Amino acid sequence: MILVTGGAGFIGSNFVLDWLAQSDEPVVNVDKLTYAGNPNNLASLRDDTRHIFVHADICDSDKMQELLSTYKPTAIVHFAAESHVDRSIHGPAEFVRTNINGTFSLLEAARTYWPQLTSAEKEQFRFLHVSTDEVYGTLGPDDAPFSETTAYAPNSPYSASKAASDHLVRSYHHTYGLPTLTTNCSNNYGPYHFPEKLIPLIIANALAGKPLPIYGDGQQIRDWLYVGDHCTAIRRVLQAGKPGETYNIGGWNEKANLDVVNTLCDMLDALQPNGAGSSYRKQITYVADRPGHDRRYAIDARKIERELGWKPAETFDSGIRKTVQWYLENQAWVRDVQSGDYMKWLEKNYQQRNAASELFNKVQEKI
Ligand code: NAD
Ligand code: DAU
Repeated sequence: MILVTGGAGFIGSNFVLDWLAQSDEPVVNVDKLTYAGNPNNLASLRDDTRHIFVHADICDSDKMQELLSTYKPTAIVHFAAESHVDRSIHGPAEFVRTNINGTFSLLEAARTYWPQLTSAEKEQFRFLHVSTDEVYGTLGPDDAPFSETTAYAPNSPYSASKAASDHLVRSYHHTYGLPTLTTNCSNNYGPYHFPEKLIPLIIANALAGKPLPIYGDGQQIRDWLYVGDHCTAIRRVLQAGKPGETYNIGGWNEKANLDVVNTLCDMLDALQPNGAGSSYRKQITYVADRPGHDRRYAIDARKIERELGWKPAETFDSGIRKTVQWYLENQAWVRDVQSGDYMKWLEKNYQQRNAASELFNKVQEKI
């Protein structure tokens, strides 16, 4: 069996569902169930004995050691993290705790567990650390995309905490020989994406008749990858990746935020018109920018294609269509996660942007 951390979150739950749809190898799923962890994502596995859910914090190193010696996994796939850049700006402490100390505690548990395995088991074992392209910092318009040799230059407390965790993972391979793999992936989107992130937030706000907040001028660029493609990439790296190596994963889909939001509005106009005969684009509102906002991310994903034969199956057009359809068909899931805590976060993040946004929108109208 494999041990997954953070398997009740967005990418982790897609990975667990995908894994069990492809193989009968059981999954031990360790998740603290923070605001971002949602057992409903895994509702279809309720009676599936191949899925063992453990409610635990990865910072609890005794518990991590106990889980490894009880279940004897052939691999650890580590997703658990605090993942939202804006939250890291409001409160970095939890990012340092989970992303750095949590990864450290898991590495320590693996360092105790791995040497006790038989040589065949040791050979087979992998510690796969799921990381982000944000560790590389930001690109200018004409810069080459991030490759595996791009220097780290994280700009937010989130990306700095992920960079620190990547360095710890690297050091456990070089110092202790632990068979680690690190993946650095671009922006994911798809089912079960928590509506604090751009794409699900825009869909939810559009349908609720609320403003669609664009930070700054909306010309920041992200590379978008459908979450199902991220899951197949991780499976492939687990299967054939070389211990100690890192692999960049991307969708070859660079898009400016405003273009993404316009695409979503047009798609919703076609699939679920707002009834007033106007486009959802009318709800677009410019708000104050994110402090330290990275301008452009782009991924050079040629290494994973060349060495492991992986490339994305979805185009942005096919992936975003599936995603919008999923949200339209799963409005109950969205309503369920829009709890009191979620509303408090929206207030905290967007209220203070309002004064700046009023001014910005007036200027935009005049241009
Ligand atoms: P998410 O925020 O949706 O989910 C994180 C999960 O981790 C949640 O289920 C949460 O309950 C759990 N968790 C948090 N703290 C924990 C702790 N201390 N102990 C145990 N569980 C804990 O995140 P996501 O978007 O699914 O991202 C998963 C991983 O992929 C993260 O490591 C993130 O850095 C990385 N990543 C995300 C993206 C993206 O676009 N979302 C892109 C590249 C890499
Ligand atoms: O690049 C990979 C990273 O992608 C992951 O490591 C992170 O975990 C994940 O959250 C994501 O980070 P971003 O900051 O790029 O994602 P987010 O959805 O928060 O924002 C995408 C872009 O949209 C970014 O430029 C900020 C902008 N934005 C976001 C929100 C929430 C807006 O313009 N308005 C908004 O309301």
